Amino acid sequence: MQDSHQSWPGLDGRTALVTGASSGLGVHFARLLAAQGVRVTAAARRVDKVEALCAEIVAGGGHAGALELDVTDARAVENVVAAQAFDIVINNAGVAASAAAFDHDAATIDRVIDTNLKGAFHVARAAASAMAAAGTPGVIVNVASILGLRVSGHVSAYAASKAGLVQLTRAMAVEWARHGIRVNALCPGYIETELNRDFFETDAGKALIRRVPQRRLGQPEDLDGPLLLLVSDLGRFMTGTELVVDGGHVASPI
Ligand code: NAI
Repeated sequence: MQDSHQSWPGLDGRTALVTGASSGLGVHFARLLAAQGVRVTAAARRVDKVEALCAEIVAGGGHAGALELDVTDARAVENVVAAQAFDIVINNAGVAASAAAFDHDAATIDRVIDTNLKGAFHVARAAASAMAAAGTPGVIVNVASILGLRVSGHVSAYAASKAGLVQLTRAMAVEWARHGIRVNALCPGYIETELNRDFFETDAGKALIRRVPQRRLGQPEDLDGPLLLLVSDLGRFMTGTELVVDGGHVASPI
């Protein structure tokens, strides 16, 4: 049986771009890929954070470089990809907004859609254009969410952005299969990170956990196998799909 500590085929020596790698899942994905021998570019707006992460990876014998990148800046994204080719892209950068739909002002809607949907589009499009021009195959993982498949209260812009990202994944997969580029969406359920840990200590947070059939939050490590499946050669016939990793949450009875 494969586990994340073994070598997954087709990863050693590959190059990967991980966006939003300054915290949470992005940090975890960068470490995970580096441990598989992938040469990771960890990108984020807070370059000091990704520099610290890359120093840690390099000190551990891995290969990693830090990059300042705001995914909403299409020109900056183009420049990054023009300067370096990637075999793997993890579109992880994302922002959330929690408010009633009535209270989503224009700036909030723009911020969420610009980052989660348009930002991922810019990055995937730029990277895939370079792959196609070079005639090299590649893999793109769009980090969506179970909220791209189902809705919940007070997350209208976020849910719409992630639903758009799921549909974008399918559209890109169909267009780019002929270039040997696979595009899939990873749809995590609730994963404990430093940003949501306090919420899950509250009564509302505990009630939410009780609605998950496995009765627990996910941990970043729960995404290891699914992510490595999508990016490695073991997932070579997978494209245009969404992989749900949620302890049974979206399958739970309504
Ligand atoms: P997080 O807030 O720790 O990570 C998001 C990262 O994206 C941050 O480092 C942030 O600085 C970065 N980012 C935001 N806007 C950016 C921009 N314009 N350019 C570049 N980087 C930008 O949160 P977390 O939990 O690690 O989320 C990572 C991804 O996973 C997000 O796309 C999120 O929507 C998704 N997700 C998270 C779940 C969870 O329960 N933690 C569940 C389902 C999906």
